[in-house]
Amino acid sequence: MKLAIVGTGNIGGTLGRRLGARHEVVYATRKPQDPDVQALVAATGRGARAATVAEAAAGAELVLVATPWGAALEVVREVADWSGRVLVDCTNPVGPGLRHALADGSGAEALAVAASGARVVKAFNTAGFEVYADPRFGAEPASLFLCGDDAAAKSAVAGLARELGLDPVDCGPLAQARRLEELALLWISLAASGQGRAHAFRLVRR
Ligand SMILES: NC(=O)c1ccc[n+]([C@@H]2O[C@H](COP(=O)([O-])OP(=O)(O)OC[C@H]3O[C@@H](n4cnc5c(N)ncnc54)[C@H](OP(=O)(O)O)[C@@H]3O)[C@@H](O)[C@H]2O)c1
Repeated sequence: MKLAIVGTGNIGGTLGRRLGARHEVVYATRKPQDPDVQALVAATGRGARAATVAEAAAGAELVLVATPWGAALEVVREVADWSGRVLVDCTNPVGPGLRHALADGSGAEALAVAASGARVVKAFNTAGFEVYADPRFGAEPASLFLCGDDAAAKSAVAGLARELGLDPVDCGPLAQARRLEELALLWISLAASGQGRAHAFRLVRR
């Protein structure tokens, strides 16, 4: 699959390095020539490269947005035509006091309005990047909670999650995104209050 990853930080870099083993990855970045970005491109392999947001997204079937929430709306507006593309929102709108930054709704729904025509999936936001680098806890994989309104888009994201060794859990429509964003706040609060970053949520079933 042709993937664009917006952001070359913890989440963008981790997902890019791992997904680059099987997919064509273009990093969408503010500074394609930066030595750190070029080192990430080299570590990603398989013809990876770095480009502007508009250029990277134009050639991609699926675009992962992995910027700070404060930059995400601006970034998605840089893409001229979202129609048909899958937008995977990995961001977390974190406000003061570790509260959700938005009074109501979710970051993912706000991005869906800004990226008209995109098939938006919320995913890769409910655990630290270390979990996406290595999702195994003993014999058990961490869950990858996702939601969205387009079944095929969710299926594509679930497939990527399985490739990474995660257990995808479809949480329903995009209206569920705020719950996933609140779950991220719980993960962050646990990390800050003694659990450290080596933990993840897992849905158990019987
Ligand atoms: N860190 C985690 O464990 C984790 C886990 C789950 C979800 N998230 C969410 O994922 C998103 C990214 O987190 P991160 O930890 O990967 O952040 P990060 O390490 O700071 O990286 C963010 C990247 O976004 C890009 N960017 C574009 N516009 C920007 C702007 N105006 N200001 C700053 N950076 C900008 C930058 O890439 P270029 O410089 O190449 O443009 C930067 O490397 C956040 O929304 C976060 O809440 C993080």
